[in-house]
Amino acid sequence: MFYTIIGTQWGDEGKGKIVDWLASKVDTVVRFQGGNNAGHTIQINESKYKLNLLPSGIIRGKKCIIGNGVVLDPWALVDEIVKLKKQNIEISDHNLMIAENTCLILPIHKIIDEINEIERGNAGIGTTKKGIGPAYEDKVGRRSIRLCDLANEDILKRKISSLVKFHSPRLTFYNKKVDAEDLYKQLSLVAKKILPYSYPTWQYLNKLAKKNKNILFEGAQGALLDIDFGTYPYVTSSNTSSGQIFAGSGFNTRTNNKILGITKAYTTRVGSGPFPTELNDQIGDHLVEKGQEYGTVTKRKRRCGWFDINLVKQSINISGINNIVLTKLDVLDHLNEIKLCIGYQFENIQYSYLPANENLQFNVKPIYKTYPGWKESTFGLNNWDDLPLNAKKYVNSIEELLETEISIVSTGPERSQTIDRKKFLDNI
Ligand code: IMP
Repeated sequence: MFYTIIGTQWGDEGKGKIVDWLASKVDTVVRFQGGNNAGHTIQINESKYKLNLLPSGIIRGKKCIIGNGVVLDPWALVDEIVKLKKQNIEISDHNLMIAENTCLILPIHKIIDEINEIERGNAGIGTTKKGIGPAYEDKVGRRSIRLCDLANEDILKRKISSLVKFHSPRLTFYNKKVDAEDLYKQLSLVAKKILPYSYPTWQYLNKLAKKNKNILFEGAQGALLDIDFGTYPYVTSSNTSSGQIFAGSGFNTRTNNKILGITKAYTTRVGSGPFPTELNDQIGDHLVEKGQEYGTVTKRKRRCGWFDINLVKQSINISGINNIVLTKLDVLDHLNEIKLCIGYQFENIQYSYLPANENLQFNVKPIYKTYPGWKESTFGLNNWDDLPLNAKKYVNSIEELLETEISIVSTGPERSQTIDRKKFLDNI
């Protein structure tokens, strides 16, 4: 069986807890897109572990794979490994493999990320400035330095030279300089630390599939940040939908899958871009504080709003999601009323999806259905029957409108604070 975790909104849906839970039950965990723009914290008893690049299974001693769909900042990876080793997590080439064809994020990409944002001015995307977009641009432009290139001095020198030549005019314009010789020295040093993990991981994965092993594909960001289907251009630079599993890892099995959509009981977004149900009022502020909605990577305050059925339904449809995990239900406790966005209106036209046109994305008006709040705490509940009636009604309405089963409801950060309605986790 293979499991996939996809965030159905703009990221930060609380994937960490469920990923960690599933990771403890499977043989291998795979990252297949994004880079160290992702971030989550895994709490095990008193210890907290911060992960940006490494698949979550690393904390549970599982085999972990960084797939070729990821863009890899080698220095960030080395830092992450050092930090985790200090917390007594074992990491070696026995439990970590990186696809040999993975493209690297270089210091040059972080500089270009900054420049791109400056040039966009008021239309800035609000990137994490980790160099993600520029690294993917070089990948598609066929200029990238890949992990396997670090093993060959001649290839590496040639590729660095042409990459620096390509970017120099723009960098010079902004008084930034990247020295090819210096970059070569830096890469040669880091190469020793990361080359031992280099492997044709697609082969390894497909052998596992043949043996019917359980594999978890760990999505980063969220489906609405997908480069094709998200709120373009206010998106990340990779495909965050489940289709990317195959191109981003070389995995060949299309059947036998459970695709879980992790979905917050309301909506949040970091960075700029359209957000039809955004709440710029006291309720929005309340959700920020109650839900502790501050970015793990950039510490930015997240924008908050009501649950948007249109958007999540779109993500379910595109990623073939067959189970929903509804997270942070407890953040809605004690509100007088709660709204669900069930459609949009622009001028005289109603929409049951978010059209791709940027003008419409910014200007559609949400059509709401209002539900009475439950005005009592659901924090930590782990039994469906213990939920207040109005909370059950809210969850059931979402399920009905999404036409997808909500298997799990999360009511707090701990594993015990989970309602496993359909015994989904128990049965893995
Ligand atoms: P980039 O991925 O750094 O290029 O940023 C592009 C957009 O994606 C920005 O709005 C970021 O805030 C957002 N983003 C990137 N990674 C994450 C994530 O892991 N969670 C939430 N938002 C993210």
